[in-house]
Amino acid sequence: MKKRVEMMVKSVEEIALDTFEMTLENAFIAKAAVPGQFLHLLVDGHTLRRPISIANIDSNRGTVTILFKWIGDGTKRLASCQAGMNVSAIGPAGNGFIYDASMNTVLLVGGGIGIPPLYYLGKELRQYGVQVKSFLGFQTDKHIFYEEKFREIGKTYIVTDDGSYGFRGFATDVLDNIGDFDHYFSCGPIPMLQSVTNKLGKYSGSISLEERLGCGVGACLACVIPAGSEGGYRKICSDGPVFAADEVML
Ligand code: FES
Repeated sequence: MKKRVEMMVKSVEEIALDTFEMTLENAFIAKAAVPGQFLHLLVDGHTLRRPISIANIDSNRGTVTILFKWIGDGTKRLASCQAGMNVSAIGPAGNGFIYDASMNTVLLVGGGIGIPPLYYLGKELRQYGVQVKSFLGFQTDKHIFYEEKFREIGKTYIVTDDGSYGFRGFATDVLDNIGDFDHYFSCGPIPMLQSVTNKLGKYSGSISLEERLGCGVGACLACVIPAGSEGGYRKICSDGPVFAADEVML
């Protein structure tokens, strides 16, 4: 169950071009959150909260790590927070990834700022003994983050749009000859998710549409997406952000 809490900023660091890692302390969120969920943060000077997915949890220390891009006034203010400041958050919000220890091998396919929730998921899966293969797409070599962290949990393929590091192209371009796996998990821009679900359509998969979140609380309808065969619509913020790959139409 989500709660409104105050989270103390422990650190803020620019870890890649325009990409910030912030670690926040709150024992409740660190205990309650599961991979795929997000925090709904109130940035100083703004009235609307900003949904940002959880990239890591250290339950022993009671800390939660988020990654965000410096793209507007809200994220600029967030990036300028100092250690010791408090940030108001509602969380853990949304429905996370569904997985279990019976899986042998899974694929993580992520693009850009859709990658952070896949790290938290991959770390949890490794603890269950699940083999993890990661396919991560970034704009350029300067935008790459968490490469070593992903390599620690399994085989990792890095792709850049311009070929400045790793393979050239998109994460989906290296999804050939992937061998056997039980399930794929994907998060990133909609065109990438369309490509992933087309390419891996015959496999069982889950997608997170967290990049499409607006207000995060069901008020703006910016996140509404048509449902698949069942018809109707889904709200990404309250029904997701994680869905079975065939549950929504991208
Ligand atoms: Fe506003 Fe879902 S993000 S209604």
